[in-house]
Amino acid sequence: MWRARLARLQTLAYDSNVILMPSALFTPIQLRDLTLANRIVISPLCQYSAVDGTAQPWHWMHLGSFAVSGAGLVILEATAISPVGRISPQCLGLYSDANEDALTRLLADLRHFSNIPMGIQLSHAGRKASTRPTWDLWKGHGVPAEEGGWRPVGPSPEAFTTGWQTPEELDHAGLARIRDEFVASTVRANRCGFDWIEIHCAHGYLLHEFLSPLTNHRTDEYGGSAEKRARFPLEVAQAMRAAFPSGKPLGVRITGEDFVPGGLTIDDCVRFAKSLRDIGIDYVTPSAGNVAPGMKIPPVVPGYLVPFAERVKRETGITTMTVGMIVEAHQANNIIASGKADMIAIGRAIMDDPRWPWHVAAKLGEKIALSPQYARSSPEHWPAYPMVHGSLPCQPEGQAKMGHATRE
Ligand SMILES: Cc1cc2nc3c(=O)[nH]c(=O)nc-3n(C[C@H](O)[C@H](O)[C@H](O)COP(=O)(O)O)c2cc1C
Repeated sequence: MWRARLARLQTLAYDSNVILMPSALFTPIQLRDLTLANRIVISPLCQYSAVDGTAQPWHWMHLGSFAVSGAGLVILEATAISPVGRISPQCLGLYSDANEDALTRLLADLRHFSNIPMGIQLSHAGRKASTRPTWDLWKGHGVPAEEGGWRPVGPSPEAFTTGWQTPEELDHAGLARIRDEFVASTVRANRCGFDWIEIHCAHGYLLHEFLSPLTNHRTDEYGGSAEKRARFPLEVAQAMRAAFPSGKPLGVRITGEDFVPGGLTIDDCVRFAKSLRDIGIDYVTPSAGNVAPGMKIPPVVPGYLVPFAERVKRETGITTMTVGMIVEAHQANNIIASGKADMIAIGRAIMDDPRWPWHVAAKLGEKIALSPQYARSSPEHWPAYPMVHGSLPCQPEGQAKMGHATRE
């Protein structure tokens, strides 16, 4: 019985082009001194579960499961460089000794069972700060002072839209302070043991607000032309690059398009990526949207942001990560195999299934090392694997072992 099933599946396997090709997704990639075992990156995912910016038991659970996921890299959620840079009062921060101690302990604990490289996304929420966790947004956006809220800051004194707070316009001293805070958090991240930093310059947060003509109406040297609007994000990135060890990668999440008339376009994105490349930034992740209301988003279909990464990569040569609705093994592999991006970031799919990389590996006929405690649920050892996941691994050798349940 199992032989017949195996033969049928092997025929299917050999009929598929994808299976006969080596999988690009599971080839290593090196940035500076760090080599990722494969191209799957766990995207930063805000958890709104910190206290005074300090990680809590939830973060141990959340990152613990990602650490044994088999991904090539985990990037920790948007982590604020100051209390006023938090999106919500519950956001993670890296601005105090208590924040740093907790993340140092967290990374040390993960190192007991995983050597997965760990990155952190450093962020300032700008005018979109002092709002609520997504599940509490029905209460409104602005958090009042008595609930721990504060007045946000931004490039210009304009609220996101009605119901949001109007930010205080940053003066030159404020800009210098924020740049120094980004640097201070960079130094802390290195001390914690992070291998990688991503700067958040997308989704309508502070650095994106400087870049976009929709949100930056300054008349000084930080506003006006595209070059002037890029000045503050580039100053921050350059200062952080200088403060992070030269062997450790530092990249930027940027915006591919604002999707609002008059906003940033892919041409602006390419220009900005070139400037980042020229100051020694190692990679960019083009995301999109959320800087201003009135977005006209294209259909959010699988891989809808890939064309942005592809164009940036082709026209600048910088290493790119792509993100957004990447959900399936062959889709993910084809993005890398076709050279459209160098890495893929996975968000909701990995929250849904923290073993997503295991199953993708099995579908592509790859083997990844599982923690020994979990190895008996691997395709090689668990006869029910294809019943649960709907397909057998495509690797003939892996299939040959499928009929044998382990008995030890
Ligand atoms: C719960 C949640 C939290 C997120 N937090 C962040 C974040 O901290 N930083 C960021 O750049 N993007 C954040 N994002 C966006 C994701 O990183 C990712 O770009 C987006 O979900 C699209 O990828 P996906 O289709 O694989 O989920 C978040 C998304 C979700 C669903």
